[in-house]
Amino acid sequence: MTKINEDKVNKKITVKTLQKMKVEGEKIVMLTAYDALFTSIFNQYIDIILVGDSLNMSFSGKDDTISANMNQMIYHTQAVVSKSSNSFVLFDMPFGSYPTPDKALDNAIRAYQESGVDAIKLEGGREKADIIEYLSQNAIAVFGHIGLKPQSVRSEGGYSIKGKTEDESDEIVADALAIEKAGAVGLIIEGVKPDVAQKVTKALNIPVIGIGAGVECDGQVLVWSDMLGLYDEFTPKFVKKYLDGSKLIKEAIKEYRDEVKSSKFPSEAYTY
Ligand code: KIV
Repeated sequence: MTKINEDKVNKKITVKTLQKMKVEGEKIVMLTAYDALFTSIFNQYIDIILVGDSLNMSFSGKDDTISANMNQMIYHTQAVVSKSSNSFVLFDMPFGSYPTPDKALDNAIRAYQESGVDAIKLEGGREKADIIEYLSQNAIAVFGHIGLKPQSVRSEGGYSIKGKTEDESDEIVADALAIEKAGAVGLIIEGVKPDVAQKVTKALNIPVIGIGAGVECDGQVLVWSDMLGLYDEFTPKFVKKYLDGSKLIKEAIKEYRDEVKSSKFPSEAYTY
């Protein structure tokens, strides 16, 4: 049976709510958003809104997330925070914004103060544990992101599924444990074999959110333009399209175009 905590509806979700959901086995629903308009539609239904650096691809038409920057992320997060009275909001630290603990803290403080976000997310495993620890000690709520890390696409020469061998699986579990020990409040695990994601989810006390990582995680995240079918060019295997958005929008746009061309619009009903 679907478990939904009715107490939570119309209340701002916090790190405490997410922790309780993990303990009680209530699945956590996460979706990206990059603006106020769509946040106002998602806010009532979605536990965590991720302002992902994926906006660089889905909104700005870039081939990867690497050129997203702090100013761009803050601008979009301000818009999302303005309409997220219910959802918890997560700020994706862009590439190059957290190479050292001090730089990470400066940028995380900017994210907190300038956008009003609830937590930040950064990519990396054990090698980023000192940064996560430093941020946590300075009252920043941090989500880790392990497995397939989109910000490593150029250094790794492409995107590839992780956890295919026992060694890789052990590395991922070690990364997850180090991130929790460093003080993270949550973890995203992307593009891994489902048995590895399950192992991580069982081993950790903090919520583990999967993307392309099977059904056994504490929650799931998708990019909104993927799940609403707006992105035609490529559909990864893990994306389920809940709407044929691109087709529906094209139909409406064509109808508008035809009605303007034929002077059917605006008719008397739409005229002062
Ligand atoms: O930027 C993003 O949208 C993400 C998700 C894919 C988890 O990091």
